[in-house]
Amino acid sequence: MVGPPLLSMEGIGKSFPNGTVALRAARLTVHPGSVHGLVGANGAGKSTMIKVIAGAHEPTSGVVRWKGEEVVWRAPGAARKAGVATIMQHVPLAPTLSVLENVFLGARGPWRLPRARRAEFARLLERVGYAIDPDAEVSGLAIGERQMVAILQALATGAELVVMDEPTASLAEGERQVVFDVVRRLSAQGTAFLYVSHFLDEVLSLTDRITVLRDGTVVEEGETAGYDEDRLVQAIVGRDLLAVERKAAAPLADDARVLLSVRGLSSPAGVREVSFEARAGEVIGIAGLLGSGRSELLHAVYGADPRARGEVLVEGRPLRRTPRAAVAAGMALVPEDRGAQGLVGTFPIWKNISLPHLPALSSGRALPREPAETERAVRAIADLGIVCPGPGALPGELSGGNAQKVVFGKWLYGGARVFLLDEPTAGVDVGAKADILELVRAFAAGGGAVLVASSEFEEILAVATRVLVVREGRIVAERAAHETSEEELLMLANGFGEGGARDAA
Ligand SMILES: Nc1ncnc2c1ncn2[C@@H]1O[C@H](COP(=O)(O)OP(=O)(O)OP(=O)(O)O)[C@@H](O)[C@H]1O
Ligand SMILES: [Mg+2]
Repeated sequence: MVGPPLLSMEGIGKSFPNGTVALRAARLTVHPGSVHGLVGANGAGKSTMIKVIAGAHEPTSGVVRWKGEEVVWRAPGAARKAGVATIMQHVPLAPTLSVLENVFLGARGPWRLPRARRAEFARLLERVGYAIDPDAEVSGLAIGERQMVAILQALATGAELVVMDEPTASLAEGERQVVFDVVRRLSAQGTAFLYVSHFLDEVLSLTDRITVLRDGTVVEEGETAGYDEDRLVQAIVGRDLLAVERKAAAPLADDARVLLSVRGLSSPAGVREVSFEARAGEVIGIAGLLGSGRSELLHAVYGADPRARGEVLVEGRPLRRTPRAAVAAGMALVPEDRGAQGLVGTFPIWKNISLPHLPALSSGRALPREPAETERAVRAIADLGIVCPGPGALPGELSGGNAQKVVFGKWLYGGARVFLLDEPTAGVDVGAKADILELVRAFAAGGGAVLVASSEFEEILAVATRVLVVREGRIVAERAAHETSEEELLMLANGFGEGGARDAA
């Protein structure tokens, strides 16, 4: 790229009060109209770098230049005013406001007038090729839809640089395409993007240049054309690694016990007459697109949806439909939206991991009561490769992916026999992804049953024995994992039968 850079950062250092050094002499250059990828393992410093750009963190050292001029952005407002829009890893939308109100939150100028807003909103939707009800309340939206609202919000500010921290981590295939199209279209019109993602195929197909962070330092920077997936993985983790190895769980014994039975489960939330069984040792993939009801199904099975009707039995015993009863029966749910649902911010890691055992604990304690509590946390930190100062760290001190691993560890070591996982590796880096899938296999091999809901069908096929395809709240197809493919699952999930014809249902 020729011409002066839009943004250039040099010698950026950032230390936190707890002693963590998140960035050391990091650098980054983004040119106008280019799409720049920023990649690295969980805890490498990507979000910290982005927060420095956004004015949310002041760097401990280094220089930031915007269009050639040195700038110090001490507050998010300053960066926004200069022309930087940032979509953070955990989308901070106002849940009780409408889509429209969120999109124009903090917007200046004519968009304060309702009529102008609606017209502009319609124009934005057209630009991004996406449809959403402007009057819907954000709290009622699925996580992927909220992500789209955040993207619209960034566009509404008319930014010259849009920074996206894992914009597609929870999106289904179709919505990812929407994000890519938006990025491509707007960059062609001169908007620059800084794009953080753990989906390396996205980074490779979408970006012009790539910066690789490892342990807070830039280890590589170059044109995307010079990379392939293997080389990129190598740069990120510093060693060769198989990204997602397909190694489905071992075949079931004929006499494997039925651990979970679901009979005629329905809910106004979008679950329709779902029935299936899961046996000990089984990993069942729930393949469905965003809005297919896959998350709603898991919630209903877990008893988290009071409006659900139907029967859920664990080892033959009917469950009362509450999460408390589910936990007592040995069921655990790792929700998709881990930021909001997974962790208690004021509790250190060890205590968060101990939470499922809470009936046995008194809540006010600040120190682990038994060495076992710390031990469990230390084991989770080691098994899942959680980057943190130790079991005493708070969730807010962790990177996004590492916080997710804590939620995962909390349930994994909680003694459950039936494990419900909603997008278990969203936001987790390539190395940890392989680790988590291996832990899922081991959990099943140890006699547990697992339901894995995911929009990443590659991941489902990598662990599952059996796949249930969910569409519009129903199971529309069932396949043995070794007898199907990503392509077939995608067709089925989109409502196409094997012959390519649309299913009647
Ligand atoms: N507020 C904070 N206080 C202390 N340490 C922090 C804080 N925020 C981040 N860190 C630490 O800084 C390091 C870099 O974190 P950062 O969030 O930038 O990682 P990341 O590359 O975005 O990772 P991920 O892919 O998991 O989102 C991590 O070791 C993290 O624990
Ligand atoms: Mg991050």
